[in-house]
Amino acid sequence: MTSVREIFDTMEYGPAPEGDAAARDWLAKHDTRFGHFIAGGWTKPAGLFDVGNPATGARIAQVSQGTKKDVDAAVRAARKALPAWEALGGHGRARYLYALARTVQRNARLLAVLESMDNGKSIRETRDIDVPLVARHFYHHAGWAQLLDSEFSGYHAAGVVGQIIPWNFPLLMLAWKVAPALAAGCTIVIKPAEFTPLTALLFAELADAAGLPPGVLNIVTGDGETGAAIVANDGVDKVAFTGSTEVGRIIRKATAGSGKKLSLELGGKSPFIVFEDADLDSVVEGVVDAIWFNQGQVCCAGSRLLVQEGVSERLIAKLRARMETLRLGSPLDKAVDMGAIVAPVQLERIRSLVAAGTAEGAEMWQPSWACPKEGCFYPPTLFTNVQPSSTIAQVEIFGPVLVTMTFRTPSEAVALANNTPYGLAASVWSESINLALDVAPKIKAGVVWINSTNLFDAAAGFGGYRESGFGREGGREGMWEYLSPDRATPAREHGRAARTASKSARSAQARAVRRAAELDDPDRGAPLVDRTPKLFVGGKQVRPDSGYSIRIAGADGRVLGEVGEGNRKDLRNAVEAAHAASGSWSKATGHNRAQILYYIAENLAARADELGRRISALTGGDGAAEVEASVRRLFTYGAWADKYDGQVHQVPLRGVALAMNEPLGVIGIACPDEHPLLGLVSLVAPAICVGNSVVAIPSERAPLAATDFYQVLETSDVPAGVINIVTGAKDTLAKTLAEHDDVDAMWYFGSRDGVKAVELASAGNMKRTWCEFAPRAWSDTREGEGRPFLREATQVKNIWIPYGE
Ligand code: NAI
Repeated sequence: MTSVREIFDTMEYGPAPEGDAAARDWLAKHDTRFGHFIAGGWTKPAGLFDVGNPATGARIAQVSQGTKKDVDAAVRAARKALPAWEALGGHGRARYLYALARTVQRNARLLAVLESMDNGKSIRETRDIDVPLVARHFYHHAGWAQLLDSEFSGYHAAGVVGQIIPWNFPLLMLAWKVAPALAAGCTIVIKPAEFTPLTALLFAELADAAGLPPGVLNIVTGDGETGAAIVANDGVDKVAFTGSTEVGRIIRKATAGSGKKLSLELGGKSPFIVFEDADLDSVVEGVVDAIWFNQGQVCCAGSRLLVQEGVSERLIAKLRARMETLRLGSPLDKAVDMGAIVAPVQLERIRSLVAAGTAEGAEMWQPSWACPKEGCFYPPTLFTNVQPSSTIAQVEIFGPVLVTMTFRTPSEAVALANNTPYGLAASVWSESINLALDVAPKIKAGVVWINSTNLFDAAAGFGGYRESGFGREGGREGMWEYLSPDRATPAREHGRAARTASKSARSAQARAVRRAAELDDPDRGAPLVDRTPKLFVGGKQVRPDSGYSIRIAGADGRVLGEVGEGNRKDLRNAVEAAHAASGSWSKATGHNRAQILYYIAENLAARADELGRRISALTGGDGAAEVEASVRRLFTYGAWADKYDGQVHQVPLRGVALAMNEPLGVIGIACPDEHPLLGLVSLVAPAICVGNSVVAIPSERAPLAATDFYQVLETSDVPAGVINIVTGAKDTLAKTLAEHDDVDAMWYFGSRDGVKAVELASAGNMKRTWCEFAPRAWSDTREGEGRPFLREATQVKNIWIPYGE
């Protein structure tokens, strides 16, 4: 008989299975066959496909493959429900969200068991992490609904949202998407992943029982084709997606030019950095949570272990010892650390990537215990001797596979950490807070955990940099994804306003030309074509590579001058100059940036008469007023430069989660044609105010305002390369900039075709875009400046810092 002592020595204990009867009853109640949940009711099951339990391989249910017709019906239902849901107001919706949170808590056990059966993840995780976080999300967002009017005044619901989620956290991803959307007043069509649709269907039923009005939440099941139908549907105003970067790219292209809002939470290859002064025993437990949590099927999994050379051997030895004690087995066993991989296709993907790693010369290690042969299981795996450029160091494996590399200095650690196209998360381990907080801002990632890993909370935003996508989920920052600004001119008025504006611009033009003639104009009588301004790159005036120039006519048709015709090579040089400037500009203090913005304003004001006349001649509008508005705008961003603060989020942790506003890097800006100076200033000033450098393509029709403006910049201490101006064919140049992999974000204001071309081209490196074809009232301070511009110019990095001994 086993003695107590032996039990303590081996820590062996028998199985402790969680009962699955309630989940089976629920499935049986539906005859294990499901239709979609649309307009508050079930559709007839059709086009059925199997849903299996990955731990056993057994079929547990069948669900319907959503067709275009199903998606149309769901979008119609959501559209119909939208006005009443929005009109209900923040408090009304807060009550529903609160009820949903309570419902999740009341049904926690059922949801957790069903999730484990469907996905293969351990009950320990579904019960203690996924489901409690789901409830937390609904509680937190009940709060945002309640505070919507006061905290988001000037904004309204984005409309009908189409949401597509992956299989790794089926219910949690639903909550991350559904809760903020409902709080904002949106109605929803959501598609769970084909491998894991069951908890979404159960949630639909629970929400219905909680009284959620029909059509507010519609669930359509199916595979990628169903997802594509949601993305393509004209009735959808916003698309939110979590999944692979590959599909994210397809969705970016599919929505290009549609005017739909888009947020993408994509893959990652997150670094887990261990400095030699770290507490190695805590590190080991951190690694377990980073890469063996959910079998490594986590977008922000710490899948690249970067260890300082001096402690590498010791850490690897400790890790191997810990891996020997991990328990892998039935997901419903409460004593199991790791469950099953979601599906055979994913298991195969892991196997083939591991084989690639071995073939490329890395050393593979797995614990000595035997992994179950039946069901989709894969043991925890550790690779050493890995080259940074190898497949397993670069590709997201999405399985329990850790690759290890070493470094010597902090700067080498940062370089290795950033050696990936992704930028979702990172962990930094060091007992020196100075070192950890020095490294955290240098890592290109949306979340950095100090001496911790995989911490999530509804109050803190989550989302990526670079090819990990854009947009945030959770916290105040996540709410913006489901809100649209009230415009000074309502959207449907825009077309009419633009037409009347162009009529009044024509008469203003005639007036201004008459006035210019009446003024005591020192240039009067002088020849109008007097010089050919160059491009402005790296702080210098440079000739365009093409050697060509373009004639620019004024409002009265007379030629006012010529500008250089920029091309691909000029843009390349400008991007290079912007990059060279971006390091020190992003580190300049807010005070310093403010000084420069004020100085630009001062020098612009000094040349107000001359520039005003030029603008009047170019546009026929009131040039003096435009210069005055531009000076004011520069003052606005001078004011903001040291005031656009981050936040400290209230997360349930002994510690802080700092939400820091970071610049995007290099922003390409294609300016509107109207208001050639004010349009340029309104976009360039907020971008540089928060530390970006820019390559601006000015108004194609009236670029002389911009070329005059760079003379102002030359005298205003703007560091070389922070602002670059390339004149020429706007749409061609904008597309080239959008294709450039070293441009981090692209803003475009112009035609619908131009928007489409920029959004399509930006899919290359998944750069963030801000594109508009609806006219904007640039001279109106509500539409032309302020926080929304600063939000577009920044990305939030959440740095979690636990404290205490
Ligand atoms: P996926 O990106 O294909 O699937 C995610 C969701 O998108 C599912 O609901 C799917 O039905 C839907 N979808 C697929 N094609 C679509 C399309 N053309 N239009 C609209 N929706 C579409 O991910 P998959 O195939 O399940 O996994 C493949 C790899 O992707 C994994 O091995 C992993 O590396 C990565 N992945 C990353 C996730 C993350 O959270 N970052 C989540 C899931 C997968």
